[in-house]
Amino acid sequence: MCFSSCANLFFVLFILFCYVLDVAIAVDTITSSQPVKDPETLRSKDGNFTLGFFSPQNSKNRYVGIWWKSQSTVVWVANRNQPLNDSSGIITISEDGNLVVLNGQKQVVWSSNVSNTSSNTTSQFSDYGKLVLTETTTGNILWDSFQQPSDTLLPGMKLSSNSTSMRVKLASWKSPSNPSVGSFSSGVVERINILEVFVWNETQPYWRSGPWNGGIFTGIPSMSPYRNGFKGGDDGEANTEIYYTVPSALTFTIYMLNSQGQYEEKWWYDEKKEMQLVWTSQESDCDVYGMCGPFTSCNAQSSPICSCLKGFEPRNKEEWNRQNWTGGCVRRTQLQCERVKDHNTSRDTKEDGFLKLQMVKVPDFPEGSPVEPDICRSQCLENCSCVAYTHDDGIGCMSWTGNLLDIQQFSEGGLDLYIRVAHTELDKGTNTKIIITITVIIGTVMIVTCAYVMWRTSNHPGRIWNLIKSARKGNNRAFVRFNNDETPNHPSHKVIEELSQVTLPELLLFNFERVATATNSFDLSNKLGQGGFGPVYKGKLQDGQEIAVKRLSRASGQGLEEFMNEVVVISKLQHRNLVRLFGCCAEGDEKMLIYEYMPNKSLDVFIFG
Ligand SMILES: *[C@@H]1O[C@H](CO)[C@@H](O)[C@H](O)[C@H]1NC(C)=O
Ligand SMILES: *[C@@H]1O[C@H](CO)[C@@H](O)[C@H](O)[C@H]1NC(C)=O
Ligand SMILES: *[C@@H]1O[C@H](CO)[C@@H](O)[C@H](O)[C@H]1NC(C)=O
Ligand SMILES: *[C@@H]1O[C@H](CO)[C@@H](O)[C@H](O)[C@H]1NC(C)=O
Ligand SMILES: *[C@@H]1O[C@H](CO)[C@@H](O)[C@H](O)[C@H]1NC(C)=O
Ligand SMILES: *[C@@H]1O[C@H](CO)[C@@H](O)[C@H](O)[C@H]1NC(C)=O
Ligand SMILES: *[C@@H]1O[C@H](CO)[C@@H](O)[C@H](O)[C@H]1NC(C)=O
Ligand SMILES: *[C@@H]1O[C@H](CO)[C@@H](O)[C@H](O)[C@H]1NC(C)=O
Ligand SMILES: *[C@@H]1O[C@H](CO)[C@@H](O)[C@H](O)[C@H]1NC(C)=O
Ligand SMILES: *[C@@H]1O[C@H](CO)[C@@H](O)[C@H](O)[C@H]1NC(C)=O
Repeated sequence: MCFSSCANLFFVLFILFCYVLDVAIAVDTITSSQPVKDPETLRSKDGNFTLGFFSPQNSKNRYVGIWWKSQSTVVWVANRNQPLNDSSGIITISEDGNLVVLNGQKQVVWSSNVSNTSSNTTSQFSDYGKLVLTETTTGNILWDSFQQPSDTLLPGMKLSSNSTSMRVKLASWKSPSNPSVGSFSSGVVERINILEVFVWNETQPYWRSGPWNGGIFTGIPSMSPYRNGFKGGDDGEANTEIYYTVPSALTFTIYMLNSQGQYEEKWWYDEKKEMQLVWTSQESDCDVYGMCGPFTSCNAQSSPICSCLKGFEPRNKEEWNRQNWTGGCVRRTQLQCERVKDHNTSRDTKEDGFLKLQMVKVPDFPEGSPVEPDICRSQCLENCSCVAYTHDDGIGCMSWTGNLLDIQQFSEGGLDLYIRVAHTELDKGTNTKIIITITVIIGTVMIVTCAYVMWRTSNHPGRIWNLIKSARKGNNRAFVRFNNDETPNHPSHKVIEELSQVTLPELLLFNFERVATATNSFDLSNKLGQGGFGPVYKGKLQDGQEIAVKRLSRASGQGLEEFMNEVVVISKLQHRNLVRLFGCCAEGDEKMLIYEYMPNKSLDVFIFG
């Protein structure tokens, strides 16, 4: 009895609830005769995206926006700067065929603003949250929301530039409760033959991605080609566009420019029913454009973070000591090419040279040209106004004139940079060079001996040796970059040299089957998270040992040396974070790192570690 009346009561409440919220009313097409009235919505076919009216947190204003799954992930806003003050808004097709938002007084507060529409148009979702305005008779797309992004980069969008103007730009919200255009914007900048993504604070550069090399942004060390979804323009000739495609990752991923001017990379986790932050463009003060002034390098790991480039000294020592970095640094010894120009003497005829900086975000204002590394170097040496150069396989030759601004020192990734200094400055580096050389030679001899002894005595003969041998067979891609200003090392020397810094006996080679079994074939439910190197899974070996598996690559075409380099980098990091690396797995395209799983350790240790 009670049960049935309770059920009835619930039914009535449910109907009331639906009526109040208009939950059920969602259309899939907007036409002039089928408008969307607040609080109705337009749904994408897969139900993942919704167009409708929303109010941001702590705000009563109504905006028309597109959201993913729930209103907590708004990815696009139409009437950003013209909020509605009540819920009488309508989204419809106007008489001239444009998609419009009208207020209660039937005034247009937003329009797709296409000038030559036919009057017979409809609007609906196409792929990945792209809202399109279509000519009914021809099916032509007259307008789409990806042409006017808000603050979020969705899969399928492109950021484009040409020498004169930016076409597609993101603009941050003013604050989390106000979608109107804030002070930060982002777009692609085209330097000479080189593309970069910038964030501006009003008109001032605030962050830069480093040169785009066709696969990654070279100033974002955690960005690996097999993780990110960024691609170059369609036709190789028109290298003015960067597409954000559907990432190879397993889940929906967006890049959002937040109201503080930071890009946030967010992943959708079905289990948690929300977006998770996995990366931000502002990891330290060094990510602020030009933090340390000209001819400096910013290193977030050191204190103070700013230092002069080798061969340079603070422009104003007193300011510098007060940690006022704005003045930057100046050259300590005049270049030989400048002396010749100024005084026409042949007193010091020794030619200028280059000091090498490794793993850096290269400075702003590069000039690109498609020449070989040795020509790149000699071209720079011949021209006194060239102060630095580098070569990257994806970009070609880059050179710099004038001030070197916004160099950042990384502990992995980045590019090498060769900075022009007078010959005498070069000599000052020689002593350390000799020490390094001797250390490397001794280290190499020791490691070769160790490896040989291990090879003779280990129960797994040739474990490491095979790795080194196969590394030797692999392509040299990874090493071209390291060695282009020195006598070329044999790749195996490099690997041995790097391995000298690893605790060798710890490294075990797992086979793929074993790792797959341990992680239940990389089941999503075992996924712990996702970081710069790839997804991380939890697993259990047959002996009960719990492991964390970092799956580095899938069909990435990454060379074995590159992988070994990563193993080395990560093995080094393990000391800092005290996570034990059990070993690795390298079969075909699969490259994985296997750690001891420690439930009470922060996930970050595996992900960013
Ligand atoms: C919609 O989202 C679900 C995950 O919540 C995903 O599995 C599905 O592929 C998505 N649909 C599209 C077309 O992206
Ligand atoms: C809402 O805005 C309209 C004009 O856009 C104005 O006429 C009206 O008075 C406003 N209502 C309130 C309650 O502020
Ligand atoms: C529509 O376009 C005209 C000129 O093309 C421009 O003046 C106007 O500001 C635009 N309106 C909106 C809402 O974008
Ligand atoms: C718009 O086009 C459709 C399909 O061609 C047609 O059925 C409809 O009558 C047209 N409507 C108007 C107002 O012209
Ligand atoms: C506007 O009209 C011109 C010429 O008829 C055409 O080339 C252009 O594609 C049209 N624009 C749109 C958005 O349809
Ligand atoms: C740059 O883009 C603008 C607007 O799209 C266009 O008018 C201009 O011709 C383009 N310039 C170059 C050099 O391509
Ligand atoms: C952005 O620029 C304004 C001045 O234009 C400044 O007051 C503000 O601090 C800057 N914001 C950041 C985050 O640097
Ligand atoms: C830093 O030094 C510059 C001159 O190089 C000066 O203009 C500026 O006021 C100084 N800033 C502070 C905070 O002292
Ligand atoms: C000085 O420069 C002139 C022309 O620029 C050149 O002919 C002459 O040989 C130079 N003298 C010395 C000592 O280098
Ligand atoms: C040296 O480089 C600058 C800047 O790239 C260029 O303008 C100049 O023409 C070059 N000079 C020579 C002699 O090549």
